[in-house]
Amino acid sequence: MRTLLIAGNWKLNPTSTEAAAALADGVKNGLGPATDVHVVLAPPFVFLNKVDQVLEGSPIGLAAQDLYWESNGAFTGEVSGPMLVDVGCTHVVIGHSERRHGMGETDAQVNAKLKAALAAKLIPIVCIGETKDERLGEKTEEVLLGQLTGSLAGLTAEEAAGVVLAYEPVWAIGTGLTATPEQAQAVHAYIRGWLAQVFGEATAARVVVQYGGSVKPDNAAELLACPDIDGALVGGAALKAGDFLAIIKAGQDVTARGKS
Ligand code: 13P
Repeated sequence: MRTLLIAGNWKLNPTSTEAAAALADGVKNGLGPATDVHVVLAPPFVFLNKVDQVLEGSPIGLAAQDLYWESNGAFTGEVSGPMLVDVGCTHVVIGHSERRHGMGETDAQVNAKLKAALAAKLIPIVCIGETKDERLGEKTEEVLLGQLTGSLAGLTAEEAAGVVLAYEPVWAIGTGLTATPEQAQAVHAYIRGWLAQVFGEATAARVVVQYGGSVKPDNAAELLACPDIDGALVGGAALKAGDFLAIIKAGQDVTARGKS
């Protein structure tokens, strides 16, 4: 029913076109022509064109790490949905915590970007997640409720079904502190419950909800085996083709064992 989506968010890495091409090439060659999980790479904007060329003929999708909500005009430094489609993007990451917390991005802005992505026919990967203080203060569900309500405001059920959500607890990003499968599954079940309440059970059953935050080859299998975890948004481990391929392999194994 839901196909796992393993995405590599390269963030502000690597620092040369040559290195970006080599990393994409390593993933492409290791994966081969067919896969029963979806795989996406999200390099920095400036490498999208080159990575798209490298990925030609492979089933790997291409994501940008952000977009602007206007298509064109006087918006210095911004990149739009139609531009991303033009360079070969299939997906776009929106509302990553490094933008929400690092750059003050609001739910309303995430919502505008999400609508722009849908209008451009890009698959949005919308990130949500609580900080360490919010978790310790038992505010996780409250925070997620606000982020979900604000970020997905005004969507139809059909539009919502095409959105990928990524639950990334901020305290687990780049820290080596992964949420346990129990912690992650509990939050994913909460997210799917919210989707069911707002958009209906049938839509909730279709939405891919990834987990992100220190996903590594040695913890991927148990996270991906959880019933409501439909993939991974991988940061650090996506910068080594071998590690990223091992995470993909964990997803393929889970799928082969009969995960929906
Ligand atoms: P790490 O895998 O490095 O913790 O990063 C996760 C992330 O933020 C992916 O978007």
